[in-house]
Amino acid sequence: TKPGPLAGRRVLVTSGPTHEPIDPVRYLANRSSGRQGHAIAAAAAAAGATVTLISGPVAIPDPPGAKVVRVGTAREMLEAVEAALPTDVAVFCAAVGDWRPAEARGAKIKKDGTAPAPLALVENPDILATIAGRSADRPRLVVGFAAETDRVIENAREKIARKGCDLLVANDVSHEGGVMGGARNSVHLLGRDGALESWPELDKDEVGRRLVERFAAML
Ligand code: C5P
Repeated sequence: TKPGPLAGRRVLVTSGPTHEPIDPVRYLANRSSGRQGHAIAAAAAAAGATVTLISGPVAIPDPPGAKVVRVGTAREMLEAVEAALPTDVAVFCAAVGDWRPAEARGAKIKKDGTAPAPLALVENPDILATIAGRSADRPRLVVGFAAETDRVIENAREKIARKGCDLLVANDVSHEGGVMGGARNSVHLLGRDGALESWPELDKDEVGRRLVERFAAML
């Protein structure tokens, strides 16, 4: 095994968006570059962990040292996460689609001049809450993310309780052309005990390295 603060540990990370098909050429997605999740996976591998990165469709290179599993939809992501267990740490950085079209059409929906049919949606599974709530094989450290545009801290406090994770990383994504897709991030760390820590704006790579140090200290 590689030396480092996470030597001998298993870590899974979700990253990127999900694509929820409407028909063969269209999908619903969230805005996510995958940069923060990929940076965490790279940092965990550099810290000696055995890393599985479960990634939705992204346009960035695979992080060095991690096993990468590519998925499309939220349901595929949940399946891949469950297949990667057990792990010591699970980090849910993906921007998972909350809803998917109730029915993915097998043929392209034609534009025929009449009013388009409304798109019926159904809820996707909450991957983070599902894994945090497991009785068997629950990772010792379950980490969630919260991308918020307003009331960042209040929403984070509500979210950590509702999702059942041990640590929540909240970021303000309200700035135009800021965090989403960018190279930098400013985050707040919220613990289950209510402890709050705000970090300065940092490169996503540096956020990844500091988070990994924190995970090692919490195990
Ligand atoms: O509820 P919200 O989407 O803001 O929660 C964000 C956190 O939950 C992130 O850690 C995200 O990866 C995770 N999540 C998930 N499955 C979903 C929705 C969100 O794992 N269906």
